[in-house]
Amino acid sequence: MSSPPVISAPSVTWAPAPRAQPLVGHLGRWGRAPLPLLEEGAALGPVFGLRLWRRALVGYSPDWNRFVLGDLRTFRSKGSMSGLAPHLAAGVVQTDEPAHRDRRAAMNPSFARRRLAALEPRIADVARARLPAGRFDAVEWSAALVRAILSATFFDDQLPAGLLRAFLAPLDRPLPWPFLPRPLLFRQMNQCLAELLPVAPHSCLAAAFARLPGGVDEVRVAVSAAYDTTAHTLAWLLYHVALEPRLRQPDMRAAVINEVLRLYPAGWLGSRRCSRDTSFGGIAIARGTLIMYSPYLTHRDPGLWADPLVFRPERFRDPLPAWAFIPFAAGERTCLGASLARLILTVALDALAGVGLRVVSAHPLPRAGITLAPSGPLNLERES
Ligand code: HEM
Repeated sequence: MSSPPVISAPSVTWAPAPRAQPLVGHLGRWGRAPLPLLEEGAALGPVFGLRLWRRALVGYSPDWNRFVLGDLRTFRSKGSMSGLAPHLAAGVVQTDEPAHRDRRAAMNPSFARRRLAALEPRIADVARARLPAGRFDAVEWSAALVRAILSATFFDDQLPAGLLRAFLAPLDRPLPWPFLPRPLLFRQMNQCLAELLPVAPHSCLAAAFARLPGGVDEVRVAVSAAYDTTAHTLAWLLYHVALEPRLRQPDMRAAVINEVLRLYPAGWLGSRRCSRDTSFGGIAIARGTLIMYSPYLTHRDPGLWADPLVFRPERFRDPLPAWAFIPFAAGERTCLGASLARLILTVALDALAGVGLRVVSAHPLPRAGITLAPSGPLNLERES
């Protein structure tokens, strides 16, 4: 008698999860120190689960990055974590397919590398006028410089400096401060932007938003997304060139910037909400799951990067595995300001070319807030 054919059901596995607390799951650890929690999860496998305010899946392999970032229809921004932060809870960041594509098509040309080149002299003037003196904290210095550069490039310095500073200040604070609503401040900022946009000179970035529907929200979100990301990256850049003067050779510049973006990706975690039941590598993913990708974990994966914790810009001479270097995310939702950020970092380094720097005392280990930041001051001294 022949045996009946074996029909194997598609195997569905569950993602492993780090140790959780009763009732609150991983929420307490997430609020206190998310990086050790992520690292514990990453040691369990390339995709792991978390119990936050809803079920979440975190992955960090290049395949996962492609799976999540390459499918805007399934993985939506609405309902993700960016909606919790008032500075980011609007405009293109909260727009999903199909409107997202049109919105980016309208905005991308103004942020293309070739168009931004016209802003270079202006950025250089601001950087040269603000060279550090004596002892200084690179974190504070970089924040002030980036604010001044955003003021010049976006608003031709027509936005009151006090308002811009007050508006961006919550982004410098640890969690949960950036998540608190600030209706009065936002109203003031919106009013000022609404007056400014129609008269913004063509040469400044705000002009690009004047004709967009919801232009006030868009420019407000863009400046917010530009600020602490670029400022923290610049602070680490200064710290590393102060530690190792050889990194200041002009032919090293692009690789040094990449290495800072690898080791300290300001956007350490991105999230989406899954809009349909799906699966990845046999792991079932239910509709509504919070889906996360993590440039921080991808960039520190020893399977992708040799000695990942060592600062070694030379590694960027070799070809990179696809979807393994994602400081600005990737795909259609890739950072709008990636070229602007690179321009600011490059021009700031150029301005510091003849300036000797030494490290006095520093807390370079990363701390995860709304963006990745050094865990304390990076105290440097200007030597010449
Ligand atoms: C070193 C500096 C920067 C880093 C590391 C960075 C990183 C990122 C990342 C990882 C994302 C994707 C977030 C996600 O969807 O999961 C993103 C999106 C975005 N970034 Fe940046 N960013 C930087 C600077 C800037 C600047 C200068 C601007 C100014 C225009 C900017 C504007 C935006 C906007 C508007 C988005 C949303 C794009 C969309 O959803 O279509 N960023 N950035």
